[in-house]
Amino acid sequence: MNVTITNVMAISLDGMIGKHALESDSERRAYDFTNMDDREFVREQLEQADAVITGANSLRASGSTWAVTNDRGINPAWIVFTTRGLDEHLGFWRQKNVRRIVVSPFPVQESLCTAMGVENWIFDEKSLPEFMKRLDAEGLSRVLLFGGGSINKMFYQNDLVDYAKITLCPLIIAGINSPRFVDLGLTKPSHLRAVSSVLKGDLVFLTYKVKK
Ligand SMILES: NC(=O)c1ccc[n+]([C@@H]2O[C@H](COP(=O)([O-])OP(=O)(O)OC[C@H]3O[C@@H](n4cnc5c(N)ncnc54)[C@H](OP(=O)(O)O)[C@@H]3O)[C@@H](O)[C@H]2O)c1
Repeated sequence: MNVTITNVMAISLDGMIGKHALESDSERRAYDFTNMDDREFVREQLEQADAVITGANSLRASGSTWAVTNDRGINPAWIVFTTRGLDEHLGFWRQKNVRRIVVSPFPVQESLCTAMGVENWIFDEKSLPEFMKRLDAEGLSRVLLFGGGSINKMFYQNDLVDYAKITLCPLIIAGINSPRFVDLGLTKPSHLRAVSSVLKGDLVFLTYKVKK
């Protein structure tokens, strides 16, 4: 299998990834969770990626994908996990220059997907090994896992994450409804090995390799 999954996340000191479930990146920058250095870091990751995996709430929060051309001259494919489908008003549906794939346990929004050129792949958590094979077969080998916590949990639980690139941000959120870096409920811990750390301003950019 020639697929590498790298989890790219900005987290607070208490392991939160936002104040509430539908908070956008720009909202986070507005209260100094992240900053333009982190945005630039994420852009660099996208420039070397074939695909991005994200959860439906993260896409609902952002509305659309990042438009970044990678080192192969195309936008990374955007893969969104959902069970309920995505609101048809989201900009995502109209981003014709990005390969967009909705992954769901059963077909969702079939006519909208067809009309908007969005693929619908059918996989559930149990069939994630087949999902990985599909990525491999499609040549989507450098894959970023962009969260949120719900999707991260699924990938850590199934030992599918190879690297974690974490931006540690100097704030404590601890909100009642704050989404976590990884949702609660892993049945076993994931262990990681530290590869590098870079301090830039108040942010620490950490790279880990997941032990398997
Ligand atoms: N700080 C950061 O770096 C960072 C990064 C990413 C996201 N975020 C923030 O985190 C928040 C979202 O995180 P979150 O944990 O609430 O949500 P999330 O992981 O983005 O999305 C959760 C959704 O994923 C779908 N899902 C989960 N398991 C699935 C499965 N097995 N098959 C298909 N779909 C599945 C479900 O969609 P349905 O609702 O359709 O069932 C679920 O509601 C947002 O505020 C976002 O901005 C922050």
